Amino acid sequence: MHGFTDVDRQSNPDSWVGVLDRLTQEPFYQAYQQRVRELLQPVPGRRYVDVGAGTGASAATLKDDHGASVATVDSSLTMAAATRARGVTQCTVADAHHLPFLDNSFDGAWADRTLQHLADPQAAIKELIRV
Ligand SMILES: C[S@@+](CC[C@H](N)C(=O)[O-])C[C@H]1O[C@@H](n2cnc3c(N)ncnc32)[C@H](O)[C@@H]1O
Repeated sequence: MHGFTDVDRQSNPDSWVGVLDRLTQEPFYQAYQQRVRELLQPVPGRRYVDVGAGTGASAATLKDDHGASVATVDSSLTMAAATRARGVTQCTVADAHHLPFLDNSFDGAWADRTLQHLADPQAAIKELIRV
């Protein structure tokens, strides 16, 4: 099992926060994240959700730079705590296969580097579209 499949059960869960923080410094990562934000076409006040949000760095940028309302979902309590520390308060600890939101709750949704860690990526994609 990959560490990102179940962060909280790893011997040092916080070290996986560090892994994501280091990757965030990479120019390639920053460039494609910028492209993701362009594709979302964020509008101030509209609602977006980042599924498998990790540290919440991407969600925080969308919220802070675009004035959007951003929620996150991650299965890890460790990652949710890191996300709250970045000022994203709408953090839900949940499974991407079963998002705890009503249909059409959001104006946009994304999942970055998360689907490869899921048992059923297609089910998670259906959930992203549904909410
Ligand atoms: C490689 S990290 C990517 C984090 C972030 N999207 C990024 O690009 O920096 C994968 C994330 O998916 C989360 N994850 C793994 N399985 C999950 C599941 N079934 N439901 C929700 N999140 C899950 C992990 O806890 C981890 O934070």
